[in-house]
Amino acid sequence: MSTIYIDQASGIDAPGNGSSDQPYQSLAYAFFSTPSTEVEKTQYQIRKDATAEYGEPTQSATKKAKKDAQGLDKKRQKAEEKESKERDIKEKAERRLQESKKIVLTEDPSLPQPVKAKIVKLESLRGQRVRVSGWVHRRRDQQEIMFIVLRDGTGYLQAVLTGNTTKTYDAVTLQLEASVELTGTLKAVPEGQRAPGGHELVVDYWRVLGSAPGAEEAFTNRLNEQSDPSILADLRHLVLRGEMASSVLRLRAALLSAFRASYAEHDLLEVTTPCLVQTQVEGGATLFKLDYYGQPAFLTQSSQLYLETCLPSLGDVFCVQESFRAENSHTRRHLSEYTHLEAELAFITFDDLMSHIEAIICETVDKLLANPVTAALIKTLNPNFTPPSRPFMRMSYASAIAWLNEHKIQRPAEDADGNVITKKDEATGKDEPVMVDHEVGDDIAEAAERQMTDIIGTPIFLYGFPAELKAFYMQKMPRKEGEQGPVCTESCDLLMPGVGEIVGGSMRIADMEELLAAYKREGIDSAPYYWFTDQRKYGTCQHGGYGLGVERFLAWLANRYTVRECSLYPRWPGRATP
Ligand code: 4AD
Repeated sequence: MSTIYIDQASGIDAPGNGSSDQPYQSLAYAFFSTPSTEVEKTQYQIRKDATAEYGEPTQSATKKAKKDAQGLDKKRQKAEEKESKERDIKEKAERRLQESKKIVLTEDPSLPQPVKAKIVKLESLRGQRVRVSGWVHRRRDQQEIMFIVLRDGTGYLQAVLTGNTTKTYDAVTLQLEASVELTGTLKAVPEGQRAPGGHELVVDYWRVLGSAPGAEEAFTNRLNEQSDPSILADLRHLVLRGEMASSVLRLRAALLSAFRASYAEHDLLEVTTPCLVQTQVEGGATLFKLDYYGQPAFLTQSSQLYLETCLPSLGDVFCVQESFRAENSHTRRHLSEYTHLEAELAFITFDDLMSHIEAIICETVDKLLANPVTAALIKTLNPNFTPPSRPFMRMSYASAIAWLNEHKIQRPAEDADGNVITKKDEATGKDEPVMVDHEVGDDIAEAAERQMTDIIGTPIFLYGFPAELKAFYMQKMPRKEGEQGPVCTESCDLLMPGVGEIVGGSMRIADMEELLAAYKREGIDSAPYYWFTDQRKYGTCQHGGYGLGVERFLAWLANRYTVRECSLYPRWPGRATP
């Protein structure tokens, strides 16, 4: 009779072997590992730990352990079944893979010659044989049928593959994001079924143009909805292949076209201004400086000064140009490089300027909504979008200060050097800013401005900012007799709910002496600005203009959380990759 030992303290079930040197830990395992025919012929010796003697287990312990051993046996059987099933699947897949190598797909020459087309152009080709190239956006296998959603940048197309077209090596190993060429007959989908465009391609011939990896390197392993924001930023080139990101960019393109059309209707001419400049527009603190053949130069902050020089030659003008701001702002509305839509108009009043901005924005939105394709994009991205009603609310800077105080929206207090004053919060123990009421002369901070805009809930023209808060070139507001308070400017910001400021504009100083005094006041050397000053020398005129942040406008229109989603490859402090 053989003996199996169990030491409940230092024994090990697996890989123990039940000898006195390597005892098992549990009696159940000891029964489980004894063949059933041997159980009766085996003696079991059990002890609590090394300090106790080995002895026979009690009857009740034996009964319980035998039951537990049955459970272990069931578990083992299940594991074996699973393993065998997996082996079968693997073998089947391997067989399928080997078989697939023998299947060669050839195009049937008796079929009609296919028409090569982009997805967006397919509707008129229904019933015909077509050839479409694109990327595998989605893939689904259903018994012997393979469904592919193809993406070519102009749209999505559902393709159905059956028979040998699903059995080739390329079909068996096809991964998402591979590029393929599909050929087949385009058929309207039956009533009650849905597919992009209302049709599907019944494929009779296809080939892979560029494969994509599976397993670890598979597209969905590199990127998915749970990916960390920094990974999403590093993989922006892959993110762009997604439906949301590409819809935003598609809307962006439509938006720029619609703006251009609106400007054409208002007789503004498009010009292309330089990015490399030697003058500042919006203050030295946000300039990206560079060495330009040994001379100091900057990346442009705004094309405004150049647009102003175009007025006497081309009339009212606009440009769509990148602007650069070296702001250390990590907010959801700041970029280091952004697309700046700027316009300049001659012989206008401040009132004309605000009416023009309102007209351009509303007419552009109307154009987008009148186009079914862009209207659908807006509906997808921002289902609750309603076009703003006109006229836009106009609120003077002084009234905004009063409004903020009435609504108890405060600002952090600052010391004489502009540092925020803090106080320890009793409850949290953290240093928190001391909050105070706004006063006329304060710069309205982003947070307060947003709160106000969100409460009011409609576009607001905030106008008449104090001269000392604004850039050197702004025209002063005429002062009424006996008027107190800071000198204000004919300047306006357009604030939109959810985003805040999307447009900044003003009337410009038209008088040369006044401009020279403004350079002086701001400590700007007038020499590099000779060409800008000359505008006041040779036939000056009342004029004004504005800049609109395209990404901010798009964030408002498409209800995006941040402007970073509204740029192809956004740049912010520390980020210029990819
Ligand atoms: O208010 P800003 O600084 O005005 C100008 O640059 C004027 N020279 C424009 C002009 O009158 N031609 O900028 C205008 C707009 C802002 O309202 C905002 O929408 C956008 O440009 N903007 C930014 N967008 C993203 N990131 C930034 N860092 C931005 N700074 C300004």
